Formats: sequence, C-alpha cells, structure tokens
Amino acid sequence: MDKYAVFGNPISQSKSPFIHQQFAEQSGQALQYNAIKPEHDDFCAAVKYFIASGAKGCNVTAPYKEQAYKLATTLSKGAELAGAVNTLTFNENGTIIGDNTDGPGLVEDLKANNANLQGRILLIGAGGASRGVIKPLLDCMPEKLVIVNRTEAKAKALAERFKSYGNIEALSQESLVLEAGFDIVINSTSASLFNELPSVPTQIFTNNTLAYDMAYRNEPTIFCQWALDNNSAKAVDGLGMLVGQAAVAFEIWRQVMPETKSVLANLRAELI
Ligand code: ATR
Repeated sequence: MDKYAVFGNPISQSKSPFIHQQFAEQSGQALQYNAIKPEHDDFCAAVKYFIASGAKGCNVTAPYKEQAYKLATTLSKGAELAGAVNTLTFNENGTIIGDNTDGPGLVEDLKANNANLQGRILLIGAGGASRGVIKPLLDCMPEKLVIVNRTEAKAKALAERFKSYGNIEALSQESLVLEAGFDIVINSTSASLFNELPSVPTQIFTNNTLAYDMAYRNEPTIFCQWALDNNSAKAVDGLGMLVGQAAVAFEIWRQVMPETKSVLANLRAELI
C-alpha cells in the first residue's frame, strides 16, 4: 500500500490523517497516511528514513516547512516564492519535489465561499502564513491586494518581493482608515491563537466583506466574531483551508482532486 504521512512537532493534534483517509475512501484508493513526530527534532533524518521505507510523499507542518524547502531537490514556483514547503513528493529516481499547497488551499476555500477574488483584498500579517498565500491570491487578479502588518517593514518587504506578480501594496495599520472597505479581509497573523485581535480599524469591513481567519476553533474565532460584530457579510475560519491544502496535495500525489465539502463537514462535526 502506498505510504504517506504528515511531519510536525507537535503532531498529535493533526487532522491530516483523518482528511487524507476520507479522501482515499471517497476516491476508492488504498493508501496509508500517518502522523510522524521526528525523533530528536531531526526532520531530515526522519524524512530520509521514511523515503527508504518506500514512502511516496509527505505533508509538512510547523516547525519544519523551511527545512522541507531546503530538502527538496526541485521546487514548484509557488514553493520557491513562499520560501516554504508543505508537500513533498518522492520520486523513484531519488528526486524530491517540493510544493506549497497552502495558498491554493486558501483560494479553493475562498471560491467555495463565493468570495470576490477579483475585488479588493486585505491581507493582515506578514509572516510565513502570509508569504505562502500571496502569489496564489495575485494569480486570481484582484483589483488590489493590500498587505498590512504590526511590524510595517515586513509588509513592505513582502510587497516588494511580489510586486511583479500583480497589484500589491503595503500600508500602515493607521492608514487603513483612509481606504474604502475590502471585499475580502484575511487574517494570517497568529493573533487568534492567543485570543488577540490585530490592530486594524473596523472601516476595513463593509456589508459585502467576507472575513477569513486562517486560524480555526470549535467556535467562531475572536477575529471572525469581531468581523461579524462590525458589519461583515460573512466570516469563515481556516478549517476549509486546511482541507483545501490537503486536497491539492492529494491531487499532486494521486492525480485525483477529491471532493472537499463533505470532508469539511465531517471534520467540523469532529471538532465539536
Ligand atoms: P506564521 O509563520 O504562522 O505566519 P510568524 O512568521 O511568526 O508566523 O508570523 C506571525 C505573524 O502574526 C506576524 O505578521 C506577526 O506580526 P509581527 O511581524 O509584527 O510580529 C503577527 N502577529 C502575531 N501576534 C500578533 C498580534 N497580537 N497582533 C498583531 N499581529 C500579530
């Protein structure tokens, strides 16, 4: 049976085995998918051991995405620009292909939520999670992608890095009050994990806004709740992005794009 796994630390909380098992059942494929915490935090040794055991590929989560980027012998354009890899494919000739499906997973979920990807998009945060989604968002040709971050210089650096791929601009948190509202507002900061809100003005939301928090919980995240309390049309958490990135990885490995809606519903039910 073809073997896959997700590598991370911690890893016991990972939903990936559940998701991939459902994809496999749904598409009638026999595969094994485990969650692995590398011994002694040695990611490269753990992956090499996994490859030697005949495995076909793996997903990679925190804190190993940069190490996976370095381990790959060939990178997709998305992974190269993201500077991080969440999907590795092991070929029989010894090559290791690195992809980043986080951004495509987010775009899939935004589409599933009928978001206006050709409109005005605000991306809050300028860390690894933000960097991974910029190119896929720009590929949707938004009217404008604004990036804002607590540490403004990091937002400016990302806008500079991606400026040849579309209309991207970095703004300070304060200057957002002068902007019209956004069609999509994405929170890529880790603030929700600490039950905190980024310092951005509520004018970013209109009654057409889809607010999206990359974090997820079994109840609305603090960011989703705040967006709804401030006029947003809809607020969605990142569980769909998690399923979406898994689906794109599954397609890379198995050449079948799984159906995600039912898997997301099953996963949501498991969270409660
Ligand atoms: P990740 O790889 O998950 O994106 P990261 O690289 O540590 O993690 O980046 C975290 C992001 O969340 C950064 O944009 C960070 O802002 P700074 O660059 O100013 O540090 C942002 N962040 C974390 N906590 C925040 C908070 N309480 N309010 C606003 N932004 C926050």
